[in-house]
Amino acid sequence: MTKLILKSTSGEVLKEIPLDIRRTLLKQLEDAWAEIPYACMTGMCSACMCEVETWLTQVDKSFRGEPAFPVDDRELMTCIAWAREGSEDITLKLMF
Ligand code: FES
Repeated sequence: MTKLILKSTSGEVLKEIPLDIRRTLLKQLEDAWAEIPYACMTGMCSACMCEVETWLTQVDKSFRGEPAFPVDDRELMTCIAWAREGSEDITLKLMF
């Protein structure tokens, strides 16, 4: 089973759930009661930004368009990102 893993800013594993390619990363974590900050849900505020510890080709960073907030190659807004079909485990690390 492929997993979505959320780590704290210090690297502690906070949540580990089955990965679902049909929902955004944030929606999956929210539905699993993970403690992850968010606000706008549209990629505009950066509250949900995480560092990706997994190879980024497994993640579509923005299915709704580009995030308004600039991000580097290892960062994404979880509210507008989802896993690609065939992904392996995805590990996210909170930034805030
Ligand atoms: S909740 Fe605002 S960018 Fe994701």
